[in-house]
Amino acid sequence: MDRGEVIMEKTLAIIKPDATERNLIGDIIKMIEMNNFKLKRINSVYMTVSIAEEFYAMHSEKPFFKSLVDYMTSGMVVVLELEKNNAIEDFRKLIGTTNPEDAEEGTIRKKFAIDKSHNSIHGSDSLESANREISILFG
Ligand code: RTP
Ligand code: MG
Repeated sequence: MDRGEVIMEKTLAIIKPDATERNLIGDIIKMIEMNNFKLKRINSVYMTVSIAEEFYAMHSEKPFFKSLVDYMTSGMVVVLELEKNNAIEDFRKLIGTTNPEDAEEGTIRKKFAIDKSHNSIHGSDSLESANREISILFG
């Protein structure tokens, strides 16, 4: 690949129930836009249990799976399809680590997350995940 080549990518973000509940939708979208992500599609969704289970299927054997599904179905979420050069990696950097205590200053989770389980925002972790998640939530 040529150095400097611009590869436009799409990634899937979810503003999670702990953030919508605390009126943080605007603040989080502001950070996303300020960091040069283009909002291609946006939707407010009340996830069903079956959508949440499908979305987080890779965690189905984990001890936190049931509480994760309960949490993701506990209130409204905002689903965003974002586009940017290197979007997937750059968005994971912008959101910060799963546990906000470990997250870097200036990340969305450092600013807004409550704890490791209620961490305000989701971002796809690979090209394969992004395609899969966009298809689940936008069809
Ligand atoms: P996400 O998929 O939501 O972007 O989060 P992530 O990649 O940073 O973390 P992941 O390991 O994929 O976990 C998915 C979500 O499950 C909840 N979780 N709870 N209580 C716990 O130990 C625990 N671990 C994970 C979090 O909501 C996490 O974002
Ligand atoms: Mg994940």
